Order: sequence, then structure tokens, then C-alpha cells
Amino acid sequence: MVLIIEKSTELTEFIAKHKGLGNTIGFVPTMGALHSGHISLVKKAKKENDLVIVSIFVNPTQFNDAKDLDKYPRTLESDILQLIPTKVDVVFAPNVAEIYPEGENKGADIDLGRLDQYMEGAFRPGHFKGVAQVVKRLLDIVKPDKLYMGQKDFQQFTIIAYMIRSLKINTELVVCRIIREANGLAMSSRNERLTAPTREAAGLIYKTLKAAKNKASKNTPEEISAYAMKKLNDSTL
Ligand code: PAF
Repeated sequence: MVLIIEKSTELTEFIAKHKGLGNTIGFVPTMGALHSGHISLVKKAKKENDLVIVSIFVNPTQFNDAKDLDKYPRTLESDILQLIPTKVDVVFAPNVAEIYPEGENKGADIDLGRLDQYMEGAFRPGHFKGVAQVVKRLLDIVKPDKLYMGQKDFQQFTIIAYMIRSLKINTELVVCRIIREANGLAMSSRNERLTAPTREAAGLIYKTLKAAKNKASKNTPEEISAYAMKKLNDSTL
């Protein structure tokens, strides 16, 4: 039986009781629209902890584009149905006021050592500040022994690892391997928003990455980057 909790005070009490009994807690934060990648995190967490908590919260502060936030898939019922077979113990599904009782700006100023300024961060201003803000808030509530995140979001887990280290948070980050669709595309909730032909064509990203890796011993980084960019730009993606 999965326990569904919406209030952070209720979750805090539940966790305090279980920690008192000596149970270890694994935590998988999500924004819902669950797929096999999420389920693999939950399964790993179940193997390594006495109790597993999954949060489902579409965090407004990590969307730098309001339209993107509106379009983000919200599928709580089917998410819960997918979680039942994993035997997850608690689904934490709070609303925005529960996560940000003092407003969405509170706690948004965590130092990320400029790691949020590069790569994806350069194109999505404020995105990683919002991710760090919500993960910190969730860690404050759940206080897990282990936190599970996917390797797919390389910059995200790197920033969270930095935050955990610099704020001396007593949680171990466990980074889990990427789960892919049949064509190699990394599973992601956002894949739902692709048309069927684009989703199929997106397999080219993984094929290109693999081909680039094979060139590592023979070519310079500049040559490999030019090769990959050309392959992707020449496609109809
Ligand atoms: O990767 C995600 O789904 C989100 O960025 C996370 C870590 C749940 C924070 O909202």
C-alpha cells in the first residue's frame, strides 16, 4: 500500500517516527510524468534502504519560461499506478504553498560555484538555481540517507553534488545509469512532448555521441565537436 502525503508536517512526523526505529530512508525527487528511468531509480532505492519516498512536484521556480511550465505533463494518477508495483512506501505530492510557504523567492540564492552558468545553464537562466532551491527544501523535509538522481541530467546532479558538499548536508547522492528508449534516446518526461517522427529521429543524438566517443583516440576534441555538430545540424531534427 502506497501512502500518499501532501503536507510536509505530516511527512516530517512520519519520517521522524521511522528514523527513531532505525530505518534508513532513500529519496527520489521527481516532477512526475514518470517513465522507466524514474522507476529504475525507485527500484535501486528500494534495494538499498528500509523506506523509500518519491516526491512528485512540478517546481515552478526552475522554469524560466512560463509556457514551458504550463505545458509540463501532469499525470499524478498514472504516476501513482506506475509506482504501486515498486512497493514504494510514500509518495509526497505537495502543492506550491507547501514547498514555498514563505514565497518562491525564499531560499533561491544558494551558491552553486558558477556551475549553473555553463552548458544548459547558459541557455536557461535561473533554471539550476530553482532546481537547487527545491532539492534543498525537499532534503530539509525528507532528510534522506540517500538521494537518487539520474545520470542523464549531468549538470543537474553535478550541481546537487556541489550543493550537498558545500552546505555539508548529511545525505549521500547516488547517481544512477541512463535508461534509454529502443532508438537510444534517453528517457525523459519531456519526450512526451515530441511528435512520433521527431522522437524517432532524436535517436540520432545517442548515435552521434557514440560515434564521437569512438573517435576519441584518433581525433582532437575540436574535430570531434565539429563532426558531431555537423551530423546533428544536417539532420531534420
Ligand atoms: O530532474 C527533475 O525531475 C527535477 O529537476 C527535480 C530534481 C525533481 C527537481 O525539481
